[in-house]
Amino acid sequence: MSNGTGGKNNSDKGTQYISNKTDNIVNMNEVTRSFFKPIFMPIEEPSEKVVTEHGTYHPRNALNNLTGKEWIHFTRSWFNLKPKKRNKKTGEILHPAKYPEELMARFIRFFTKKGMWVLDPFCGTASTLVAAEECERNAIGIELSEKWARIGAKRTQNYIIIGDSRNLDSLDLPQIDFSITSPPYWDMLHHSRGGSKSTQKDRIKAGFDATFSKHELDMGNIKEYNAFLNELLGLYNKLMAKMRQGAYIVVILQNIQKEKRQFYPLAWDFALKMREIGWDLRQEMLWCQSDKKLGIWGYPNTYISNVHHHYFLVIQKP
Ligand SMILES: C[S@@+](CC[C@H](N)C(=O)[O-])C[C@H]1O[C@@H](n2cnc3c(N)ncnc32)[C@H](O)[C@@H]1O
Repeated sequence: MSNGTGGKNNSDKGTQYISNKTDNIVNMNEVTRSFFKPIFMPIEEPSEKVVTEHGTYHPRNALNNLTGKEWIHFTRSWFNLKPKKRNKKTGEILHPAKYPEELMARFIRFFTKKGMWVLDPFCGTASTLVAAEECERNAIGIELSEKWARIGAKRTQNYIIIGDSRNLDSLDLPQIDFSITSPPYWDMLHHSRGGSKSTQKDRIKAGFDATFSKHELDMGNIKEYNAFLNELLGLYNKLMAKMRQGAYIVVILQNIQKEKRQFYPLAWDFALKMREIGWDLRQEMLWCQSDKKLGIWGYPNTYISNVHHHYFLVIQKP
C-alpha cells in the first residue's frame, strides 16, 4: 500500500506518466542512506486463505502477493510479449534498447511483495523503476549516462543514481530484495547485422542514438569479450553483499552472433561463471518475440539465425 506521498498510479497510463518529482536523482558520490525513503510500505499479511477473482492467496506465501493461479501461470519457461508503442513525449524513445515496463512488472510481481526494494544496475530510462512503481515496490536504478538517467527520473518517483554501477559496493543502499536488469549485450549495438535494412540503421536514419554513449566507462563500449564478461561478473560479485539472503536476481541477456558467423554464447557463459562466483542458478525463462519481422540474413547459401528471443536468467543468492 502506498504511504500516500501523493504519487499518481502509473498503471492505467503506462509510460504516459511524467513525474514532477526532482529529488529522486543523485550523483553516485553524493548518495547517502537517508536519500532512499521508502515510497511504498508492505501490506498486512492475511492469517487465512483469501479467495479473490484471480484465485486463492495463501497466507504462507513467502515470495509474492500472487494467488496460486497467478503463481503457476508465471512459471511457464517461455512467454510471448509484444511491447506497447514507446512514448514520444517522455524522451524514452531516444534510448536504443529500452525495455517494456510490462515485461519488468511480470518479474517484479513474482519475485517480490509490495513495499520491497528492487535494484536495476543498468537502468537506462528507468523502465524497471516505472514498473516497480506500478507494482507498489520501491526501486533504485543506477545509470552511467546522465542523459538516460534524467529522462528516467522524470518517468518515476523511484530513485536513480548517476554513475558506474561497478562501484555499487561503495553505496549505502537499503537491503535489496530483488534485482532485474538488461545489461548492455556486450558491444552488440556497435555491430549492425548484415542486410541493407535493420532497426539500428533505421534509428540512425531517424536521427536517434544507435549506441548508449561514447563514455569510456560504458560497458557497451568494451571491445574484448572476456573483458566484458569479467566486468559484468565483478559487478554481480559486489551485488551479492547488497542482497537479502535467498533473494532472486534476473539478468536479461542474449547469445551473440557477430560478423563472419562467430558465435559468442554470452548468456550461457555468464550463467556458468555466476555459479563459479557463488550464485545459485535456478532456471532460464525465454522472452519470445513472435511479433518481430524476419530479416533476410544468409539466404540463399548460409544459415544465419533471426535471434528473436532473450534469456531471462533466474539466479538466487544462497
Ligand atoms: C540495455 S540498456 C538498459 C535499458 C533499460 N532497461 C531501459 O528500459 O531503458 C543498458 C544501459 O546500461 C547503461 N550502462 C552502460 N555501462 C554502464 C555502467 N558502467 N554503469 C551503469 N550503467 C551503464 C547504458 O547507458 C544503458 O542505458
